[in-house]
Amino acid sequence: MARFLVMPILTIESTCDETAAAIIAEDGRVLGDCVATQESLHERFQGVVPEVAARAHVERILPVIDTALQKANVSPAELQAVAVADRPGLAGSLLVGLMAAKTLAVAWKIPLVAINHLHAHLYACQLASDHDVYPSIGLVVSGGHTSLYQCSGPLDLEYLGGTIDDAAGEAFDKIAAMLQLGFPGGPAVSKWAAKGDRTAYPFPRSMVHEDHFNFSFSGLKTAVRYAIVGPGHQDFSQVDVDDTRKANLCASFEAAVVDVLVSKCRRAVEQYNVRRLIVGGGVAANKFLREELASAASTDGFELIIAPFRLCTDNAVMGALAWEKIKRDQFAPLDLDVTPGLQRGF
Ligand code: KG4
Ligand code: ZN
Repeated sequence: MARFLVMPILTIESTCDETAAAIIAEDGRVLGDCVATQESLHERFQGVVPEVAARAHVERILPVIDTALQKANVSPAELQAVAVADRPGLAGSLLVGLMAAKTLAVAWKIPLVAINHLHAHLYACQLASDHDVYPSIGLVVSGGHTSLYQCSGPLDLEYLGGTIDDAAGEAFDKIAAMLQLGFPGGPAVSKWAAKGDRTAYPFPRSMVHEDHFNFSFSGLKTAVRYAIVGPGHQDFSQVDVDDTRKANLCASFEAAVVDVLVSKCRRAVEQYNVRRLIVGGGVAANKFLREELASAASTDGFELIIAPFRLCTDNAVMGALAWEKIKRDQFAPLDLDVTPGLQRGF
């Protein structure tokens, strides 16, 4: 007798530098999951090196899928579909996940489902909520993206704007590199920031008063750089930044990023009159951002749902979004290609 009334699905995530797989039931229950991070491989470069990431995915993808199946105690014959994030991300990394998913779909004779990784970051909020989180304004803040959406449903998202240069997480990583705080930079910068003065440096809040939903963080990054070494200097290793300055630089930088993110979210909530904000992506794990968003939500009177910590950074559990597609018969063809997204607007 079959063990499942509705058989679970396998979800695969390999858009950047995490290789992840999960087995997910129709009601969103996670039967098993596995995430292999590559932080140690990229640390010495202080950023993700695409070719290194793709090669590491090749090595890890099958063991990660195997582990998720074993944890769930589910056999391939008990799966009803395989879902994979096909956009946006690093081309080589995406290809590894997509090739694995297609191969398994053919071998196991199950359909393929394609997931937008950014929509999945927002769906992590749905997984943490006991009620519908749509309609809402959605903010994705990650290492590769800073994007605002008007979300009518889990698969019905209108892009309102996003970064025109660095993503918020990328800026955190670059500031950490300048101050030699390690990789990934977000958690380290945030730890130093908690000990610093957020008003010590008047860093720019780019485009904060402009009447659109685009972001820019490259000017802020340059301002921090000048505050550390002065114009014209390149070599950060020659500059000795004492602990107080380090904390103040991190605190003032974090305040500038958070100010801009919170202001734009408040404006979007007002302008579209959608009194609910959902927030996902690696930077959504930032404690100061969470606190400032919570305070804005209570002042302005809108509902705030932020992805739980464990679902902020990349994972395959948020691929539960695939169930929304399966329910609507939205399957992908086997000649599906990756969409890395060099163009903006996801
Ligand atoms: O969502 P994610 O795992 O990968 C992408 O889809 O890009 O996000 C990773 C990013 C990194 O840039 C990392 O520095 C940042 O999220 N991050 C944080 C924190 N934790 C991770 N940034 C700020 N504060 C944090 N606590
Ligand atoms: Zn991500």
